[in-house]
Amino acid sequence: MSRNLTHTWALFEKAKRFIPYGVNSNFRYWGDRDTLVVTRGEGAHIWDADGNRYIDYRLGFGPIILGHGYPPVVERVAEAIRQGTLFAFTTPLEIEVAERIVRMTGVDKVRLCNTGTEATMHALRIARAYTGRERFIKFEGQYHGAHDYVLFSTASSLPAGLGSRRSPINMQLSSGIPEGIRHYVINLPFNDFERLEETVEARWHELAAIIVEPMLGNSAGIMPRPGWLEKIRQLCERYRIVLIFDEVKTGFRIANGGAQEVFGVRADLVTYAKALGNGFPIAAIGGREEVMMVIEPGHVIHVGTYIGNVTGTAAAAATLEILETQPIIETINRRGRLLMSGLGEILNEAGIPHFVTGLPPMFGFILGTEEEPADFRAYCRGDGDLYERLAMALIERGVMPDPDGREPWFLCYSHTDEDIAETLTVFEKAVKDVKRKT
Ligand SMILES: Cc1ncc(COP(=O)(O)O)c(C=O)c1O
Repeated sequence: MSRNLTHTWALFEKAKRFIPYGVNSNFRYWGDRDTLVVTRGEGAHIWDADGNRYIDYRLGFGPIILGHGYPPVVERVAEAIRQGTLFAFTTPLEIEVAERIVRMTGVDKVRLCNTGTEATMHALRIARAYTGRERFIKFEGQYHGAHDYVLFSTASSLPAGLGSRRSPINMQLSSGIPEGIRHYVINLPFNDFERLEETVEARWHELAAIIVEPMLGNSAGIMPRPGWLEKIRQLCERYRIVLIFDEVKTGFRIANGGAQEVFGVRADLVTYAKALGNGFPIAAIGGREEVMMVIEPGHVIHVGTYIGNVTGTAAAAATLEILETQPIIETINRRGRLLMSGLGEILNEAGIPHFVTGLPPMFGFILGTEEEPADFRAYCRGDGDLYERLAMALIERGVMPDPDGREPWFLCYSHTDEDIAETLTVFEKAVKDVKRKT
């Protein structure tokens, strides 16, 4: 079976004339033949330029928590922007969003940002200003955005470049990063208690922060081992290091209170973005009073012309109100559980070794191994090529995960039981097809 992609290909050719590689973010480039041009979305579905419909599990890399074009959010935004879009003054909408974030997550204070990148960049600055130290620990396979400090040993790194577990190498992800930047980051394997303890004990006096995705939202949703987040918390406490939870993917998705609620561990700073605005650009840094109050005008910089813009802030106000007052995450969890277990059963029946990772609103699976992955290195032992072939067979049939197995499947409130049933039927066919061709 094959889709008609005539218009999509013609539009993509045109895109390449004006936009480098035809995409406005490198992660969207799937090659000249496979990169789609999408014209609209509604609920849990999107359509390409040829009118092919897909049940969407990419959800724009995770932000869509309610559904595409979700009417109550769109209406609140439309109503708000009729009265202006940007004032560079505090607005009642900003106060409403901050108050809701405080109530839902338990942080003391909130500053808004526009993107996850901005949020993690500012969070690291706040941590440095608070501690007077410069270095930070992150974990391999985590992605914290596109600023220079964090573009080392992310989920896009080649495992061969990471060095040994005993002495991991900071693998630089991009040209164009000044040489000296690598000096500030220390990458360690996720879930490695011994390596973490040893590193913190030897270098705590240099460490401003430990930044962690509480579950690996950029490496198939690998989960923290029992006690892992508590261990990080303990070490941060003991050595006065700022613990930053990067909840850009988990925030307002795995629970209203995000990973702090699910795992029962509190951070000093938390970065939010994605689900906060159901697809509108908005992000936030939340945190403990004492740490957040270092953002003192004239002393520690947190600024941005578009911060608090009416469009994103109205979207966040509407999204958070819906999350607070309706059983959104419970419903997503229920449907996600059906999907996770259904996919697992089909893979079992087909005799394909696999391990399903993550939580129902945001999960992944690794093929070619039954070992529970503890870190990015273990993820890389799976069969990424097989995953990609399976994903492409699904996309061909109208079910849209990201073809890259590191990117989780995301669910939203608009996925119905029928969508899940259709996905499982398509998945079964795609598995058979891929097995036949292997
Ligand atoms: C955990 C995490 N942090 C930060 C970011 C960067 O967010 P943005 O793309 O909005 O800059 C991402 C993006 O995927 C992310 O997954």
